[in-house]
Amino acid sequence: MRDVKYLASACKNTNAWRAVLLTTLPLVILWALIQHTFPLSRPPVEVGCANRPIRITDIYVIHSYWSKDRKELAPGICRWLAEHGGPLADVPCTLAPGFWASAAPRSAILDLIRQRVVAPESHARPLGWYTKLLYRFHVSGAAALFDEQEQPLSLSYLGIAAVNVMAQSNWTAAMTRQGVPPRDRVNRHLLLIEDDAELNEERVAMLQRTVAQLDPCYDMVGLDYKENFCSLQWLKDGLASWFLPAAWRTSPHLVRARLAFSRTTGLLFSYKGALRIQSAMPVTRELDLWYRDLITDGLLRVYVTCPRVVGIMGLPTVT
Ligand SMILES: *[C@@H]1O[C@H](CO)[C@@H](O)[C@H](O)[C@H]1NC(C)=O
Repeated sequence: MRDVKYLASACKNTNAWRAVLLTTLPLVILWALIQHTFPLSRPPVEVGCANRPIRITDIYVIHSYWSKDRKELAPGICRWLAEHGGPLADVPCTLAPGFWASAAPRSAILDLIRQRVVAPESHARPLGWYTKLLYRFHVSGAAALFDEQEQPLSLSYLGIAAVNVMAQSNWTAAMTRQGVPPRDRVNRHLLLIEDDAELNEERVAMLQRTVAQLDPCYDMVGLDYKENFCSLQWLKDGLASWFLPAAWRTSPHLVRARLAFSRTTGLLFSYKGALRIQSAMPVTRELDLWYRDLITDGLLRVYVTCPRVVGIMGLPTVT
């Protein structure tokens, strides 16, 4: 007897559920349709990923125009690329004037702060909890660009940071000025190199292979990564060379940077990446570690090449 009652109530329950489902489902579908046709709020414009094969469309070379020893380097790189750059020969090569920090009056530095290019630490974007934790336990550290009195701590850090991010915003501003349709900008890619970068035909070929296998949603690629960050990759390559025929192995490898990042001699940016970086400005720390913090906070999707694609002459920085 109890079983029958139980069964009856179970049936009633299923019927009730069915009724609820049958009435709500059409309502949900109707609501979704109305939302789709007359959305109450539109999502903010999102810059997407590349939707065509990636190729470098612009090259900026940082130009130390004031230095007797270095002023020939950047024009030399553009000239070399035009003559021997193969696939890069036709890519416009722009000299990006460096920031002559040692000759800059205080007002020029104040201008940079006003434009939110660089700034004292007090102006920094709030860090994510994980990055904060790394700083708290001294796993991470980075030199600030300004001291507590808001005076530059190191002119070379200041100059490198300022020019690197200014070059990127000049690049995106140029697209606005030229009226490049926003949907085409996702297929623009900037190679930004410092004037002591070393390129040759083999490196250009490596760069082409890198770009060909690049994630279309990348934000930035470090092309001159420190070799010791690649040691895990060497180990994998060592193993692969036992098992895989040479033709199956790719080089260079793109390795996702998750917690560490260093060096800025050769960087590749997508339009999305450049905009993301601009929205995180001002730079308040040495540049490569400021990028590292963006990576740790999940704001930038960054890869590095193993081995490095852009060589470094290792000249002392000029300010
Ligand atoms: C960026 O553009 C401004 C304005 O044209 C120019 O003065 C500056 O030198 C450029 N800087 C870089 C790094 O390209």
